[in-house]
Amino acid sequence: MRKLFFLLSSVFLFAENNQTKSIEAAKKIALVASTEYLKVLKNAMKSHLMEKGPKGAIDYCNKNAYPLTMKTSVKLSRKLHVRLKLKRISFKNRNVADYPNATDVPILKELSKTDPKHPKMYVKEYPTRIDVYQPIYVQKICLRCHGKHLNKDVVKELDKYYENDKARGYKVGDFRGAVVVTIDKKSLEKYLHNQ
Ligand code: HEC
Repeated sequence: MRKLFFLLSSVFLFAENNQTKSIEAAKKIALVASTEYLKVLKNAMKSHLMEKGPKGAIDYCNKNAYPLTMKTSVKLSRKLHVRLKLKRISFKNRNVADYPNATDVPILKELSKTDPKHPKMYVKEYPTRIDVYQPIYVQKICLRCHGKHLNKDVVKELDKYYENDKARGYKVGDFRGAVVVTIDKKSLEKYLHNQ
């Protein structure tokens, strides 16, 4: 009986240990992925802003934010050796598709209360996937299209694409939303096994 208990508890400990390992690995991978993804978006937005001005950059973001997100998910899955998917969510969103879903809402609420000086990550585990949430804060350059005092050409262009644009009136340091990195658990286990 004691032997069985010992055996069972060590199996349990082993499973628990593996689970912690997966979560830790998911956090590390998600940090790399979300940082890279935000860099890709910012660089694309900045180069269009410089070459074509705010009108061209808004047109670019409208047509490319989604395809670029899909492309970056595929690229980073290959680079980091796990199947992952990226998305951006916000309560004060511009694109209607970026509003958080029912499972995102409570986590985004928690994240919105964290201090921008000490950004925090949230992790939620499901049977087949791990979702990692990374907060996004407003920087100076973002104000050109998300700030309080928008240029009238910017307003005109935004109104053209977004009927119910809630992503205006932000200040530097405001909580803007989050990047969600969804990691497929099977591919993560395979990756850890091959380490
Ligand atoms: C040239 C204008 C422009 C600038 C500058 C800009 N954005 Fe945006 N942003 C947009 C547009 C347009 C969308 C909607 C894209 C779409 O339709 O998918 C958007 C969408 C977003 C979203 C997705 C959530 C939502 O509201 O739909 C986030 C998050 C975001 N921007 C953050 C930022 C941050 C952070 C910065 C600064 C680093 C920034 N943006 C700078 C134009 C801009």
